[in-house]
Amino acid sequence: METETKTLQEVSSISEMKEVALSFRKKSLTIGFVPTMGCLHEGHLTLVKQSLETCDRTVVSIFVNPVQFGPDEDLSTYPRQLQSDIEKLEAVGVDVLFHPTKEEMYPAGHKTYVQVQDITEHLCGTSRPDLFTGVSTVVLKLFNIIQPHNAYFGEKDWQQLAVIETLIQDLNLDVVLIRVPIVREIDGLAMSSRNRYLSDQERQTALFLSRSLQQARDNIRQGTTSAKVIRNSIRQCLLEKGGVEIDYISICDPKNFKEKEQVCGRTLIALAVKVGTSRLIDNCIIEEF
Ligand code: PAF
Repeated sequence: METETKTLQEVSSISEMKEVALSFRKKSLTIGFVPTMGCLHEGHLTLVKQSLETCDRTVVSIFVNPVQFGPDEDLSTYPRQLQSDIEKLEAVGVDVLFHPTKEEMYPAGHKTYVQVQDITEHLCGTSRPDLFTGVSTVVLKLFNIIQPHNAYFGEKDWQQLAVIETLIQDLNLDVVLIRVPIVREIDGLAMSSRNRYLSDQERQTALFLSRSLQQARDNIRQGTTSAKVIRNSIRQCLLEKGGVEIDYISICDPKNFKEKEQVCGRTLIALAVKVGTSRLIDNCIIEEF
């Protein structure tokens, strides 16, 4: 890997981004890519640092993708703070920031959407039917524009990761997906741009996501295998404090997301809840035992 002093190159047009990517490729420089919707936190920066350590050039995209939000979701209020994001990217030494406008990414007449089937019909896909088509479409567009060798995604969005893995495999894309474990606050809260919406009291309530997962892990370690029993204990833990609306508690296969009756083999425990106006997700993997 090359070492040199870098300045962050800001690009907002697709044609310029393609030229930059091509110039890297012509010099045989490897491109690491971190797609984001901005409002960067330590979770994003962990992905960025992995790319910086492994690839010659790192490109970060900031684009609040309208097509992955449903009509009643938080597109208009999604936190945006480009200037402080730029400072964070400069501080860690990112090479290129791609931040296109909505019109650049979806000009009038855009008609093509990408749909990964089956695995998108569970968990978040049930309550957010537009989510994964929007994510797959924008990620494929970004891969085509940025031409990365590696792309970095966090395991907090476990199902999103599975969808992108499937997209890469099914459409024969030459991108290596790198999974990065969940980054948590010191008190266990999984990092998320949406944590900013939480009041102090809601933040205390939100801690019950990671606590309920920890409790489930403890129960399993002590011999409980019934998914129904584990789901009920998670539900009780989440509802203990009030102010929580549960979307789903899933105990499922981590690849196809089919619900399990017993925790046996590798198992994903995934949660989505609403605390105040914020929809939060968290998960953990129970390794085969
Ligand atoms: O995980 C996200 O932030 C978004 O879903 C992504 C991958 C940047 C696509 O808009």
